[in-house]
Amino acid sequence: MTSPLPPASPAFLTGRRALIVGVANEHSLAWGCAKAMHGAGATIGMTYLNDKARRFVEPLAQEVAADPFLPLEVRDSAQVDALFDALRERWGTLDVLVHSIAFAPREALVGRVADCPRDGFLTAMEVSCWSLLDLVRRAEPLMPNGGTIITMSYVGAVEVIRNYGIMGPVKAALESAVRYLAAELGTKGIRVHAVSPGPLATRAASGIPDFDKLMADVTHRAPVQRAVTIDEVGAACAFLASDYATAMTGETLYIDGGFHILG
Ligand SMILES: NC(=O)c1ccc[n+]([C@@H]2O[C@H](COP(=O)([O-])OP(=O)(O)OC[C@H]3O[C@@H](n4cnc5c(N)ncnc54)[C@H](O)[C@@H]3O)[C@@H](O)[C@H]2O)c1
Repeated sequence: MTSPLPPASPAFLTGRRALIVGVANEHSLAWGCAKAMHGAGATIGMTYLNDKARRFVEPLAQEVAADPFLPLEVRDSAQVDALFDALRERWGTLDVLVHSIAFAPREALVGRVADCPRDGFLTAMEVSCWSLLDLVRRAEPLMPNGGTIITMSYVGAVEVIRNYGIMGPVKAALESAVRYLAAELGTKGIRVHAVSPGPLATRAASGIPDFDKLMADVTHRAPVQRAVTIDEVGAACAFLASDYATAMTGETLYIDGGFHILG
């Protein structure tokens, strides 16, 4: 069963500039955010990982008139510099940053957390967690009048989820980082959140062993008895970025059909 969302009206993000990092294709959570924020009136900037990804992301970027539209491999500091130079030149200020990326090398993801190799762990932490700190530090001066920063977590941060492996500890670090960032940036009007969606069949999810079983189990057991959609996650993120959510920061907001309340 799907859940058609009402059109975003009124355009409560009109005049806001939102940078969306993490669109790989039309199934990406980041794409749900780009669509929802664009629908609510925001101006969108988007990134793509590399030339291989560009041909999947470019048609989507065109749909939401994304500009800037630039490559971003978060481990390449020259690309990060170029992205923020472009944002400074073209936009001057930034209102919303969506960080929707994660990666762990296969040898770090499969098997026991106890056996996770050092290099794989460090790569997973660098791409999936430290990159948020790096982007936030660079976004901060572009948010002189405040802003909203949102990253994507998963319930595996706080519960042991079979096969989620090393991404559990990595997401736990991410959620903790969100709380520290929210505390540090609150006086500047910059609000920082994690959202924690239920499982969705995306490219990143396909790297998790037996993901189909996980998805079937959650869909069966979650109070709403269905998978969530990227549009529902996008709508919640648009809300967090709006003036309807100005008293919220440091939150981990579950968008999982209620799965996390089960024991
Ligand atoms: N799909 C799920 O079930 C689910 C559930 C909860 C949270 N999440 C989280 O949502 C986020 C987005 O994942 P998704 O499921 O939409 O999958 P996705 O594959 O569509 O998106 C992952 C993105 O990460 C990007 N990425 C990976 N390494 C990168 C790097 N070094 N530099 C820049 N970008 C890089 C990829 O290019 C891709 O755009 C991730 O943080 C993921 O952990 C996913």
